[in-house]
Amino acid sequence: AEKVAALLGTHIAEYPDFPEPGVLFRDITPLLRDATALRTVIKHWVSMLPEDIEYIVGTEARGFVLGAPLAYELGAGFVPVRKAGKLPGNPASLRYDLEYGSAEVQIQQGALPEGARTLVVDDLLATGGTAAATVELTRTFGVELLGASFLIELEGLQGRDRLPDVPITTVWSIPN
Ligand code: PRP
Ligand code: MG
Repeated sequence: AEKVAALLGTHIAEYPDFPEPGVLFRDITPLLRDATALRTVIKHWVSMLPEDIEYIVGTEARGFVLGAPLAYELGAGFVPVRKAGKLPGNPASLRYDLEYGSAEVQIQQGALPEGARTLVVDDLLATGGTAAATVELTRTFGVELLGASFLIELEGLQGRDRLPDVPITTVWSIPN
């Protein structure tokens, strides 16, 4: 775990005032492009997760990049929550506020079977708006929500408070 934290410290770049003044952007692309680091982090992340996960729900875009390899490793299916206008078949929609701006996310009809053991995944828990919207859409299917899991948690933004009844795991928690 300490080794992974050190790896994340060196493989996640920080960009002040992006995409807006006052926001410190965490860029995961250095982690993604380093084959060894990516594999090490995904394997460690899998070891932290509950057993018998049937579906990973990941949110566009960075929740896709990390959620798909987790699903593959776990032998689970992957279900995308997408930004509005991308999914066919009259998807369910939810509008939510973001650290910068607002967004609308969607999930396809019939995307998850009732009772399925499901985990929500994203790269970052910041204000929790994205995760809360993803959880709300996921719950409409009556799944067994095992929790939500993030590569990075920005503790100072207290995103957890938006998910009071969801077990949360984070690979790397940082103050802010
Ligand atoms: C970022 C990040 C998380 C979310 C976290 O996504 O990938 O999904 O913000 O912020 P929150 O906890 O305050 O909601 P973003 O919407 O910037 O887009 P992307 O994943 O498509 O890059
Ligand atoms: Mg995102």
